[in-house]
Amino acid sequence: MSGNEPIRDVAHLGAVELFTPKPDESLWYFRDLLGMEVVHQSGGSVYLRGYGDYAKAPLKLTEAAKPGVGAISWRTISEQALERRVAAVEAAGLGGSWGNGDYGRGRTYRFTDPEGHAMELYYEEERYVAPPALRSALKNQPMKFSGRGVGVRRIDHLALLARDVPKNREFGQNVLGMQLREQIRFNNGETEIGSWLSTTAVHHEVAWVLDVKGGTGRLHHFSLWVDNREDVLRAADILRENGIFIEAGPSKHNNSQAFYLYSYEPGGNRIEVYSGSFLIFAPDFEPVVWNEQDRGTGVYWGAPLPSSFLQYATPDLPDPPAEPDVPVFDPR
Ligand SMILES: [Fe+2]
Repeated sequence: MSGNEPIRDVAHLGAVELFTPKPDESLWYFRDLLGMEVVHQSGGSVYLRGYGDYAKAPLKLTEAAKPGVGAISWRTISEQALERRVAAVEAAGLGGSWGNGDYGRGRTYRFTDPEGHAMELYYEEERYVAPPALRSALKNQPMKFSGRGVGVRRIDHLALLARDVPKNREFGQNVLGMQLREQIRFNNGETEIGSWLSTTAVHHEVAWVLDVKGGTGRLHHFSLWVDNREDVLRAADILRENGIFIEAGPSKHNNSQAFYLYSYEPGGNRIEVYSGSFLIFAPDFEPVVWNEQDRGTGVYWGAPLPSSFLQYATPDLPDPPAEPDVPVFDPR
């Protein structure tokens, strides 16, 4: 916020880069099982899209020694908004540098969040035009629904781990102009375990959640949207039939009301197939705060989340001696 005036410079989460040590297998997971479309390949990277994504390539898979998250790219509403946000990032001391932009995008400013996750701001976006074989009969749909695999519609959000949640949450609010949606606060509100934020009506586009292993710049999960809950159930069948490890779900969370399914793609990253949830339109939305009691297990109904959900993130770290007061939470 700037005074009481919301900042509306960031339009939405534009693209996410995932690192994978098993690029061929990860590509199989996203293309053949989740049903995404490959639009470009360059060097050690493959660019993919869901059938409903308007952007050319909102997911970039990059070969790397370890899994994890690469650049998290935010599109601004205009060139002027881009300049304003870059100035804000630099004023916050997190400045980086300008580059020519990734595939399908114009000039891009690269920086980090306080935790050290790589982020980008850009405005110019080349509109996706489907080749004839992928052209939809629906004039308002960017690409034909292929019916392949899960058939995810679009990217939705990601959850990042952080050693200092409030610092990153404040960065999201004050520098990028995000709206705070929900929080988990334990110890009479003193310990901020996780915060969920968005720049759009989508419930959340990013979460910063406490890294219980004290790692650096790690990814908890990346999430893709399907239109209804039956699609999530069908995704569980498709993933299981193909030997993919399902860690949790299908079940429903209490915060965000999400209907979720978490699996590990072959490179090791936790991927969520996601539906349900709710949209938020109120400009003066009051963030919802959950404490130990009303948070419970983080599951509204369904099986409790396994301990791996708390412990595992990418890149993975060996189990440390757990701090005795590490709270149980759900990075959803
Ligand atoms: Fe999620």
